[in-house]
Amino acid sequence: MTSCSIFKFKSINGNGKLTPIEANKDIPFDIKRVYYIYGVKNDVTRGFHAHKNLKQMLICVSGRVKIKTRTIKEEKVFQLDNPNIGLYLEGMIWREMYEFSPNAVLLVLASEYYDENDYIRDYNNYIKECRKCNW
Ligand code: TYD
Repeated sequence: MTSCSIFKFKSINGNGKLTPIEANKDIPFDIKRVYYIYGVKNDVTRGFHAHKNLKQMLICVSGRVKIKTRTIKEEKVFQLDNPNIGLYLEGMIWREMYEFSPNAVLLVLASEYYDENDYIRDYNNYIKECRKCNW
């Protein structure tokens, strides 16, 4: 079974704000990779894939972005618009990111190194894999 859920991180006040995130404490995995997505035009949608094993925390550290998640059972839309909110995605969740604001920076903490073989980029394959796993 896989899951997606919103995490709320600490926000420490004093001359601005500071949000610390520690692996295996504030998020449920070791961080092997960090990347960030920015400079995305408002009419562009990215993603269109699921992962076999990867766990990720998506944090919009500047601006705002919408994330649509899909499983065989349900579809959800999350708006990330606060740097102390994260969307936790386990592997087998189809995801699409869209409506990036001009200043949006989407930070991603990932549990594994980049591996193209971990991607499922075809939606029909994704549905087939879900059925194999029986959920
Ligand atoms: P991709 O994950 O498809 O981006 P998105 O889902 O946001 O549209 O990655 C885009 C390109 O960047 C693709 O050629 C793979 C490459 N890439 C890396 O080299 N390393 C990484 O850690 C990631 C996430 C992507």
